[in-house]
Amino acid sequence: MIVTERNRRILWLIIFIGCMLPAADLLRRLFTGDLGADPVETLIRTTGDWAIKLLVAGLLLTPLTRIARNPLPVRFRRLIGLYAFFYVCIHLTLYLSVDQGFDLHAIVKDILKRPYITFGMMAFLLLLPLAITSTRKMVARLGPKRWRQLHRAVYVAASFGVIHYYLLVKADITWPLIYGTILAAALGWRLWNSLTLSALQDTGRLSSGCKP
Ligand code: HEM
Repeated sequence: MIVTERNRRILWLIIFIGCMLPAADLLRRLFTGDLGADPVETLIRTTGDWAIKLLVAGLLLTPLTRIARNPLPVRFRRLIGLYAFFYVCIHLTLYLSVDQGFDLHAIVKDILKRPYITFGMMAFLLLLPLAITSTRKMVARLGPKRWRQLHRAVYVAASFGVIHYYLLVKADITWPLIYGTILAAALGWRLWNSLTLSALQDTGRLSSGCKP
């Protein structure tokens, strides 16, 4: 696809609306009483599902940009990352409110007792500063290098998200395994890239103008 500003805006709008649809569908099902026998479980599970899907999808955009030699995918990383955080926030709010009734004592006990809750909480706490610093103003304030270093934590947050999912499923581990494999591939690609980049820098090929 040819990258024009118009194309980018159209795609941005499509992704924006597309990522909003699961939340809109949940609202519709809530108001029409179509959430099944356990509406709270359906809400928590569906928002968790979308959170992990978007988190992992967001990590694929940089490799996709490089492999397809098209600068477009990476331009949607922030949008998709913020949507992942949006679903995590609904997911967590439902857990804290409807599931635990904002009982701080019960919540702390649950976090300490159930490993899948511990990992979910750690993933959320790692994502929080990333969401707060996702604005252009914060990139400028932190400086691009520090900002990039901080945002590498998204790999750890996504890994904790996958572990959280893996620990809570009782029998069928297919999806946690699929997400884990995609995550490992994205991380492997990133490591391989930075290793080859530093090897090129060591041999001086980059400074002589030969960029990968
Ligand atoms: C990055 C953060 C998180 C991600 C990606 C995530 C993802 C998920 C996923 C994929 C599921 C399973 C959905 C399914 O069964 O299809 C789930 C379930 C659940 N998550 Fe999370 N989650 C996160 C954070 C949290 C946090 C912070 C809490 C609470 C402290 C939490 C509590 C739960 C609960 C209670 C369930 C339902 C378990 C059950 O029905 O047995 N999650 N989450």
